[in-house]
Amino acid sequence: MAADTKRVTTHRLLEMKRNGERIVCLTAYDALFADLLDQSGVDVLLVGDSVNMVLAGQETTLSATLEQMVYHASTVVRGVRRAMVVIDMPFLSYQVSIEEARRNCGRALQLSGAHAVKVEGGAHMAATVRALVDIGIPVMGHVGMTPQSVHALGGYRVQGRDEATAERILADAKALEDAGVFGMVLELIPADLAEKVSTSLTVPTIGIGSGAHCDGQVLVLHDMLGLNERFKPKFVKRYADLADAVKKAVRAYGDDVRSGTYPDTNHSF
Ligand code: KIV
Repeated sequence: MAADTKRVTTHRLLEMKRNGERIVCLTAYDALFADLLDQSGVDVLLVGDSVNMVLAGQETTLSATLEQMVYHASTVVRGVRRAMVVIDMPFLSYQVSIEEARRNCGRALQLSGAHAVKVEGGAHMAATVRALVDIGIPVMGHVGMTPQSVHALGGYRVQGRDEATAERILADAKALEDAGVFGMVLELIPADLAEKVSTSLTVPTIGIGSGAHCDGQVLVLHDMLGLNERFKPKFVKRYADLADAVKKAVRAYGDDVRSGTYPDTNHSF
C-alpha cells in the first residue's frame, strides 16, 4: 500500500476521530528531528513551549518568548512535508487582550509557517479562541494541567481528581469546542475523566498522562527517546535510551582522540 503523503489538516484530524483512527503527536523543536518524525508517520508535530525547559534548561515554560517559539517552529516547518505543525503560544502572548492574541497568533503563523496555534486555558479563553477562529487561525486548546499556570496549580500534578474540578474541566473542554477549537490537549487528568471528555466532544482530544481513551497521544520527544535522564514521570514510556547511547559514543570518541586512533587513514585526506 502506498504511504499516505497528503498533508494532515484540521479536517483530516476530525475525520480521524470520526473513523476511530488514533492521532499520533510528538513535540518537535528543530528541522532535523521534524524530518525524522515526519518520515516515521507522526500526524501532528507540536512545537511546545516545553522547549524552554527541555532545550533551554529553564525551570518552567513561563519565560518562553514569541521570538523563541517562532524560531523553533520555523525550523520544524522546514523539516516536514506531511505532518501538521502546531506552534505553542507562550505565556502572556495571548492572555492580555483579544487584540494582542490576534496579532501575536497571526504573526506566529505568518513568521513561522506553522499551520495552527495552541493556547492553554478553559472557558475563560473561549472569547479569545472565537476571535482567533473568526480571522482564520486554527486553534488547539489545552486543559487539565496547564503548565503556564504551574504556580497557581501548586506544581505539575494530576488535575480533576475531585468531582468539582472534574466537572470544571469537562465544562472547559465543551466551552473550547463551542468556541471553535479543532482539537485539544488533555494533560494529566484521570483516565476516566479523559474518556468522558473525549466521548462528549466531536473534536479530537490529544492526551498526555491522561490514559488510553483520548483520540490521540502526545509526548515530549526527548522524554520518550530517553534523552532527558532526570525526568521520569509515570506516564512517560521510554522507547529508547538515547542518553546512554550519546554518552557511550562521546566517550568512545574521547578515547580515540586521546589515544590518537581517530582520525585514522580512512578518515583523512
Ligand atoms: O509544551 C508542550 O510540549 C506541551 C505538550 C506537553 C502538550 O504543551
